[in-house]
Amino acid sequence: MPEKRHLKISPSILTSDFTRLGETIDTLCSSRCDYIHLDVMDGVFVPNISYGFPVIRDIAKKATKPLDVHLMIVDPDRYISVLRDASPEYVSVHYEACTHLNRSLQNIRANGMKAGVVLNPHTPVTSLEYIAEYCDLVVLMSVNPGFGGQSFIENTFRKVTQTKELLLRTGSKAMVEVDGGVNLNNAGALRDAGADIVVTGNAVFASGNPADTIELFKSV
Ligand code: DX5
Ligand code: ZN
Repeated sequence: MPEKRHLKISPSILTSDFTRLGETIDTLCSSRCDYIHLDVMDGVFVPNISYGFPVIRDIAKKATKPLDVHLMIVDPDRYISVLRDASPEYVSVHYEACTHLNRSLQNIRANGMKAGVVLNPHTPVTSLEYIAEYCDLVVLMSVNPGFGGQSFIENTFRKVTQTKELLLRTGSKAMVEVDGGVNLNNAGALRDAGADIVVTGNAVFASGNPADTIELFKSV
C-alpha cells in the first residue's frame, strides 16, 4: 500500500480568545502544528475586520512556528514591506483583490517571503494558468472569506484535484492549502484529493483542547 502523505496543519487564531493571545501562541508553538495562520481583514474586501500588523509583529516576536499570513484586504501591496519585519513564511493575497497580481507576487518574493495566491470559492482554477509559476502557495477558500466557523463548500474537493493537475502541468512547485470549514471528518479526504496544508480554526479552538485536536489532525 502506498504510504499516506502527511498533511500539514495551519491553525487559524481567528476564533481563539484574544484576551489570551500569548497563551494561545505558546500552545500552538508547543503543539505539532506546522504553521500559524493569521487572517487579516479590512472590512472592505470582506465584511469583517480582524487584526492588523502591530498584532502580527508581536506574534512574530513570540512564535517559534512559521507564520502563514492570509491578507483579505484590498490593494495588499501597500503592506508587503511592513510584513517583512515579521518574517512570515507565506504571505497570501487574493486573486480578486489584486489588479496586478503578477507584480504583487513578485513583490512578496522580492521582500524575502514566499508568495501565495488565494482563490475565492467562485473563482475558477483556470485563473491560475499564467500565475502558477510565480506562486509558492495556492490557497483554495472552502468558505466565503470573512468569518471563522462556517460550513465547508463541498465542491472544493474537485477544485483541489484540478489545482494539483494545473500545477503539475505548468511545472509550478506551489503547495496547495485549503482554508475554511476544515474538520476531522473532511481533512483526510482533502489530503487524498491533493491538499498539502489545511487551515483549521473553529475545529481546533472550539474543541476545548487545541493541542489534542491538532494531534488528531496530524494522525488523520
Ligand atoms: C476565513 C478565514 C479562515 C478561517 C478558518 O475568512 O480565512 O482562515 O478563520 O476558520 P474555520 O476553520 O473556522 O473555518
Ligand atoms: Zn484564512
